[in-house]
Amino acid sequence: MPSYSSATPFASVYHAPVMIDEILDQLDRLATKSTSAAPLARIIDLTCGGGGHSEAFLTYLRAQNLNHVEVIGVDRDSDSKEEASQRLKDFPNFHHCLKNFGDLTPDDLGGPVDFVLGDLGVSSHQIDDPSRGFRYGGNVKGGVAGPLDMRMDGNNGLSAADIVNDYPEEALLKILVDHGGEKYMSAKRIVAEIVRSRPMTRTDELTAAIERVTPKWSKSSPRKGALKTKARVFQAIRVAVNDEMVSASDGIDEGLCTTSFGITFC
Ligand SMILES: C[S@@+](CC[C@H](N)C(=O)[O-])C[C@H]1O[C@@H](n2cnc3c(N)ncnc32)[C@H](O)[C@@H]1O
Repeated sequence: MPSYSSATPFASVYHAPVMIDEILDQLDRLATKSTSAAPLARIIDLTCGGGGHSEAFLTYLRAQNLNHVEVIGVDRDSDSKEEASQRLKDFPNFHHCLKNFGDLTPDDLGGPVDFVLGDLGVSSHQIDDPSRGFRYGGNVKGGVAGPLDMRMDGNNGLSAADIVNDYPEEALLKILVDHGGEKYMSAKRIVAEIVRSRPMTRTDELTAAIERVTPKWSKSSPRKGALKTKARVFQAIRVAVNDEMVSASDGIDEGLCTTSFGITFC
């Protein structure tokens, strides 16, 4: 069983995948248990991104002479399709599926699935590109502002600007509390300031609104400071824009229904 001494094996400029040793360890246990009557057939990487975890699977499979096992990398972001398909072009058993994993059908998977991985959230590539609108820079030193977008799949559905400008105050409050873990009174202050500052079209406008009602730092509790608060608010809005809770529960249902052995979410 390979063990990677580097802190970030299979990292690329696109993203540094986490928990490689732990994930490959689980796959190795599965492979050891499989038999010629019930061989491994298919691994699904639900959140393929730059293909780091997929490459780890494929490298493991190649080393074990298990090249018949297919790895399907799913992602709703077309940048992932471009990046991972190019990166993994020397592995004929890799296929990319450009889709929200919550909408996967048995046809997309092509047969029984043995192992499902979900590395939920956003990739570094998405955060690093200011034009995607995930980045809470703009006012921070070195930060770059972008459009208030945050859609993982390009132009589909509501953007962050649609939510920030059009949602009622109560709905925004619920988003900040439920998806960002923002404390109620702080969320109320931030939402009131967002509503006062409408319309907003850029990330630096949202950042500035949060900063106006948040202390720069707090000695008693770092979580109350502006940096962490901006991170929570941006995360909450991103989760709402991409309907991430619904997708995750649909993806887990799909994974559990189709997987014969293992499911891993990290
Ligand atoms: C943390 S990154 C995964 C990075 C990946 N493991 C790698 O090694 O590069 C999360 C990825 O999941 C994708 N994603 C998030 N929610 C998704 C969903 N519901 N359906 C498909 N892809 C999703 C994002 O677009 C992003 O590329």
